[in-house]
Amino acid sequence: MHRLLGLSALLAACQQPQIGSDFLDDLREQGYREFARAPGWETPRAPAQGGPHGPFVDIYMNDTVEEVFAAGDPLDAWPDGSLIVKDGWNDENGDSLKFVAAMEKRDDKWFWAEYRGNDEVVAEGIEHSTCAGCHSAGSDSVRAFALPR
Ligand code: HEC
Repeated sequence: MHRLLGLSALLAACQQPQIGSDFLDDLREQGYREFARAPGWETPRAPAQGGPHGPFVDIYMNDTVEEVFAAGDPLDAWPDGSLIVKDGWNDENGDSLKFVAAMEKRDDKWFWAEYRGNDEVVAEGIEHSTCAGCHSAGSDSVRAFALPR
């Protein structure tokens, strides 16, 4: 009986949503909100183009992505280390965070991650199927802007 109770407590614990993650901490430590804004998304909280990440979005790119545009050479794929982060807001003023979404190129594959405004993990994983399917329509999976051609 005691063992059974232990097992059900364990199962209940597993069903609790996971709050917070090392990768989300890492994004914050990198200060992603201070990254350059993605091309075409310079205006804070530009309305989304119909993506599922919130009605108002901020899209940031790290140095690796910025360098692709600085060089301007045609490319077929984003380089390893490319990191694109997106805040999805409920409101135009950016008071109410709905989602933080990110994609990072690792060994020629995309690592995908999404969190709710309360840090609950929605998805995390290399080639995560929830994200990769819809994003396959993009420019090497990026939907908001394109590789230089
Ligand atoms: C139903 C389609 C769809 C799904 C599913 C989806 N996205 Fe997106 N995503 C978009 C669109 C469209 C954009 C372009 C910006 C916008 O409209 O908000 C976008 C933008 C992004 C961006 C900014 C860079 C870019 O590619 O434009 C990131 C990062 C991102 N999504 C991450 C994710 C993650 C992580 C998941 C899985 C949890 C996911 N997305 C699932 C459609 C989708």
